[in-house]
Amino acid sequence: MSENTIALVTGANKGLGRETVRRLAALGWTVLLGSRDAGRGAATVDELQGAELAGTVEVLPIDVTSDESVQAAAKEVEERYGRLDVLVNNAGITGPRVEVRETGADALREVFETNVFGPVRVTRAFLPLLERSAAPRIVMVSSGLGSLTITADPARIESQILSLTYPSSKSALNMITTQYAKALPRFRVNAADPGYTATDLNGHSGHQTVTEGTDAIVELAQVGPDGPTGTYRDRAGEIPW
Ligand SMILES: NC(=O)c1ccc[n+]([C@@H]2O[C@H](COP(=O)([O-])OP(=O)(O)OC[C@H]3O[C@@H](n4cnc5c(N)ncnc54)[C@H](OP(=O)(O)O)[C@@H]3O)[C@@H](O)[C@H]2O)c1
Repeated sequence: MSENTIALVTGANKGLGRETVRRLAALGWTVLLGSRDAGRGAATVDELQGAELAGTVEVLPIDVTSDESVQAAAKEVEERYGRLDVLVNNAGITGPRVEVRETGADALREVFETNVFGPVRVTRAFLPLLERSAAPRIVMVSSGLGSLTITADPARIESQILSLTYPSSKSALNMITTQYAKALPRFRVNAADPGYTATDLNGHSGHQTVTEGTDAIVELAQVGPDGPTGTYRDRAGEIPW
């Protein structure tokens, strides 16, 4: 399964997405580096090609908030490859920092558009191509902040974050993950919590490297047809919803 696997990672021009592309291409896979800005994506592909990876990396313009862009991306993959084996829904935003009491529906809508509606839009558009794979896999890049259990545990740093937007978007994504897992029994559909990782998302305050932050994503991208589905994991193993 390591040969000729075709994978797409959204939001991959930097951060965890970029590192996921690098690691999957190092397995010998053909990896489509999704980027909403084609120029930023092409620049990242150039950097990664300099890393002499076993597989290949190609840019795929895709803005997860745009039906038109997502449809065009699916058409391009259909024409170029005729199928997709692995979809990593990684693109995500934190959204504006607004106090809980001041947060309105517009702030939620903005974050959900990327973090929740984005993965649904992309998954739905790529389902016909994933159906053609012998071992279709979907990885939803969630967060520990989406876990009701973890955010209620005073011993966890996630319990100190007060926000209506980002945490609820990742909780919604978690439920969407388990619903897809049940509806698509031949697929492996799992959610990954990268852990607190230094990227632009948090002004590089995270304590993990992007390689550590992609451990769970890369592991779930490689699960076999009899592997876990409908699970939620970080780099140390399964975590509570
Ligand atoms: N870093 C952490 O500590 C951490 C922890 C838990 C979960 N996560 C999750 O991990 C994922 C990756 O985050 P990161 O830390 O790598 O953040 P990042 O460095 O800010 O990268 C986010 C990526 O998403 C892209 N993106 C944003 N909106 C998009 C859209 N509408 N369409 C397509 N791409 C879009 C960005 O593209 P542009 O460059 O064009 O903006 C960028 O490539 C996110 O889902 C995040 O919630 C991160």
